[in-house]
Amino acid sequence: MGEDRPCTGPEGRSQALKPPPERLYGRARGHRLRSRQERLLEVTLPRLVYDPSWRPETLWLEVGFGGGEHALAQIVAHPDVGLIACEVFVNGICSLLSRLVPEGGEATAPLPGNLRLWQDDARVLLRQLPDDSLDRLFLLFPDPWPKARHAKRRFVHPAILPLLARVLKPGGEWRVATDDPTYQAWVQEVMAGTTLFRSATPATERPLDWPPTRYEAKALRERRSPRYWTFTVAKAMPRP
Ligand SMILES: C[S@@+](CC[C@H](N)C(=O)[O-])C[C@H]1O[C@@H](n2cnc3c(N)ncnc32)[C@H](O)[C@@H]1O
Repeated sequence: MGEDRPCTGPEGRSQALKPPPERLYGRARGHRLRSRQERLLEVTLPRLVYDPSWRPETLWLEVGFGGGEHALAQIVAHPDVGLIACEVFVNGICSLLSRLVPEGGEATAPLPGNLRLWQDDARVLLRQLPDDSLDRLFLLFPDPWPKARHAKRRFVHPAILPLLARVLKPGGEWRVATDDPTYQAWVQEVMAGTTLFRSATPATERPLDWPPTRYEAKALRERRSPRYWTFTVAKAMPRP
């Protein structure tokens, strides 16, 4: 699928969908960091940074973990699975680190062996990962970029699908959730236009083994209706 392929917008009008820009995310730093957060970034983060020599047998990747609720619940529920958690927002990274490390324990606290962090655009990591390396990919409540002229910034984008399909193992899963109606229509449309993933009907209730996230809680409080998709990559299993 070409990066400049025109696409019909979810609002029903045709638009020439531009390729994604180099940076997909809005802001990478919010309010000023406290000294404990600075120490977590300086001392704890380097102990968790993903290194390509780390090759667990089962590998999952979460794009945009926000405060880290889902990533932490998954590594506790699945101690045999390795999870790379990606986030570009520094305050989110601090939030996850502060849940892992007690006050004063930045340098010595034991860290979970099955978690690694990636603090840059997830697409940079995806490009570096070998073929067939991921068992599961999570994209939970991505930034919706609801204006049509910002569609190129959405993580779900025709140009990214070949990259995701390449790194997923045969049978690998891509879980996507969003509460934004424009993004819901967008996911349906983009995924209907590809043969790289099997089509999927979204669930209207969060499946049991999907730990909740902060953005989901906010959406439910504000009476929005999230949708949850599980797309399976359409790749042949290797012959035995
Ligand atoms: C709306 S928040 C949702 C956070 C979390 N998944 C949740 O459900 O609470 C989206 C997050 O994705 C991050 N993000 C956006 N684009 C990204 C990218 N290309 N790579 C890594 N993180 C990204 C943003 O910094 C933001 O924290």
